[in-house]
Amino acid sequence: MYTRIQFYHFGGVWFGCIILYTFYNPHIIYHWAGLSTTYVFYTYRKSSHTLYCYLLFSGFIGSHAAILLAKKYPHYKVVVYDKLDYCSCLANLNEISRLKNFKFVKGDISSPDLVSYVMTEEKIDTVMHFAAQTHVDNSFGNSFNFTQSNIFGTHVLLEAAKIHKGIKRFIHVSTDEVYGEGETFETEAMKEEHILEPTNPYAATKAGAEFLVKSYHRSFKLPCIITRGNNVYGPHQFPEKLIPKFTNQLLRGRPVTLHGDGSNTRNFLYVEDVARAFEVILHKAQPGQILNIGGDNEISNLEVAKKLISLLDLGDKEDELITFVPDRKFNDLRYTINSGKLHQLGWKEEMAWEEGLKTTVEWYKDYTSRFGNIEDALVAHPRIGVAPGASVTNSD
Ligand SMILES: NC(=O)c1ccc[n+]([C@@H]2O[C@H](COP(=O)([O-])OP(=O)(O)OC[C@H]3O[C@@H](n4cnc5c(N)ncnc54)[C@H](O)[C@@H]3O)[C@@H](O)[C@H]2O)c1
Repeated sequence: MYTRIQFYHFGGVWFGCIILYTFYNPHIIYHWAGLSTTYVFYTYRKSSHTLYCYLLFSGFIGSHAAILLAKKYPHYKVVVYDKLDYCSCLANLNEISRLKNFKFVKGDISSPDLVSYVMTEEKIDTVMHFAAQTHVDNSFGNSFNFTQSNIFGTHVLLEAAKIHKGIKRFIHVSTDEVYGEGETFETEAMKEEHILEPTNPYAATKAGAEFLVKSYHRSFKLPCIITRGNNVYGPHQFPEKLIPKFTNQLLRGRPVTLHGDGSNTRNFLYVEDVARAFEVILHKAQPGQILNIGGDNEISNLEVAKKLISLLDLGDKEDELITFVPDRKFNDLRYTINSGKLHQLGWKEEMAWEEGLKTTVEWYKDYTSRFGNIEDALVAHPRIGVAPGASVTNSD
């Protein structure tokens, strides 16, 4: 009799636990549909040590990472913190704005008090740091903004993360541009150990930020991970960057403005592949690691222009739709990186170039007014945030 009562008592506790767990993790019901004990245990184990709370930033790539994480992991809380600069748009987060596990906070990363307050108040345990001044053209004219956000802002985040203590991962998003240019088309793909030789002020501030991140990892054991990615394209990108800019120029019946002779190449990665790379890095990378995020679509700017003209059915006017304008002060020939380490963690590029470009063009047809008046971004050499009279090109 005594044993029986004990059994029922235990049964009740377990039943209560299951009801409570299901209440806080409704997604598990889907897993139970194909009930395999190991899978349920895995899901339970995963969420028991997570209930992760992320601090992300809402620009182009950050918005896709936030959407992926908030939708796929309803038991993770996603807090997006962003100052909503000229290139940013809250509508990029429409897909998740009503989700219970999502929150947006408007703020500058250069503000130590606000950053610390949000980290503590929201009980943040993971930082994915996408916030930056990112347009190389602008950095030739007024790079103080770049130092302020990319170096000082990163320093503020690191210091807040150090004081806050509960940080399990600090993922710092850097760029392949920190390696400097691949000088020829024979240059071997650069691995993570390669020396950093940035050639423009934007890349230099990104490299500077990386050194701060490394120092916080070494000095304070902050669990930092650094990523260095190729050029990214896809929906939500402000039209100052090559692909959305050319697309929007063509959609307005204007010729594209190619820098120099258009022969410089970039390796283009589709943004959803990049968001998946961050998902893999979040779950599988180890503190102290540096990971390249690279793909297989190395394409010249001229080829990109021709492909877009053909996707928009304007092939018969190709000659008149391509204009060549003076080059930047300095324009890296190409970037070439080796992503072997990331492949070992299980990530690979999935989107085919043609398909990704087509999806992107279709998105800009539907959302051409997403960023309001973009005239300043569509000129050959945008000067948003650039001091009057400052030069960004070789000719002026
Ligand atoms: N887009 C690419 O091709 C590419 C390639 C490699 C690496 N990266 C890196 O990825 C990260 C994200 O790039 P992106 O293309 O999404 O950039 P983006 O320019 O679209 O977005 C940057 C975001 O940072 C925010 N921001 C800027 N300064 C801020 C500040 N002081 N405080 C708070 N928010 C601030 C802006 O409002 C914007 O939302 C950057 O660190 C960039 O260096 C980008």
